[in-house]
Amino acid sequence: MVAIHPLKKIWLDGRLVEWPAAKVHVLTHGLHYGYAIFEGIRSHRALNGPAIFRLREHVERFLNSAKIYRMKLPFSSEELHVACKDLVRANGVPEAYLRPIAFSGYGEMGLDPTNCPIQVAVAMWEWGAYLGKEGQEKGVRATVSSWVRNDARSLPPQAKCAANYANGALAKMEASASGYDEAILLNSSGMVAEGPGENVFRVRDKVLSTPPASSGILRGVTRDTVIQLAQEEGIEFRRVDFTREELFTADELFFSGTAAGITPIREVDGRPIGEGSYPVTRRLQGAYDDCLRGRSPRHEDWLTYVA
Ligand SMILES: Cc1ncc(COP(=O)(O)O)c(C=O)c1O
Repeated sequence: MVAIHPLKKIWLDGRLVEWPAAKVHVLTHGLHYGYAIFEGIRSHRALNGPAIFRLREHVERFLNSAKIYRMKLPFSSEELHVACKDLVRANGVPEAYLRPIAFSGYGEMGLDPTNCPIQVAVAMWEWGAYLGKEGQEKGVRATVSSWVRNDARSLPPQAKCAANYANGALAKMEASASGYDEAILLNSSGMVAEGPGENVFRVRDKVLSTPPASSGILRGVTRDTVIQLAQEEGIEFRRVDFTREELFTADELFFSGTAAGITPIREVDGRPIGEGSYPVTRRLQGAYDDCLRGRSPRHEDWLTYVA
């Protein structure tokens, strides 16, 4: 984890405020009951200036999370796009992680958030690769968690709701306490779901696969990017469930996520994965990086320039 260094501004309820002024009351409803939905987005220094990657898709997922939770957002998709762009410009930091969040605010207590005001903020900070630069290069060590991914019948994983991350935090803390870099959670049927903040991909006999949305995962924007890039690179791809032991027998495994990027997994529970080289992962890392930095004319529409 990395300490946050304050930048200048945060967008809060429709306007840019000074960083220290972006505060909420301790009786903020969402703080008590986890009724908050959020996003994680990155901006990069691209060829033609600072650009936010797949902003449209992230805002769309934000609106879908709100819909699942019956949350009425007081801002439109267009207003949220402008908020993100204004924020990156106001802070003058091109390489950043953006965190839009909407939550039930101060006003009432009790489980039903219907009458609480909904507050919306977008913050940003400088954040390197979530699983480390070295992890992205050399691969990380993962463990299969004893915690099961929250089931769609109790907490819908396709909504990026703060409450889901209590499940993720249990898995992450367990992994860290046992000396691993990251956890892999199985779903309630015992099949591989995802990491606490990443999707999982497997390569076996040159075929790339990832669990389908029905396995109880967040439909990652990076996951979607990887799938499109794999198809363009001529890599055979399947959306298919796989078991815990199929993790161990993979030729390559990697995590994908906005925070983690594409990070190879070099070991799962003490078993080295493949031969320690990651040819498919490396190709996808390269293609992904080209997209983020505006070197892929074909995917220029994935970039929203902030200038
Ligand atoms: C639980 C979970 N799965 C997967 C992902 C990857 O999603 P994305 O690629 O959109 O960042 C994230 C990150 O947002 C996540 O929190």
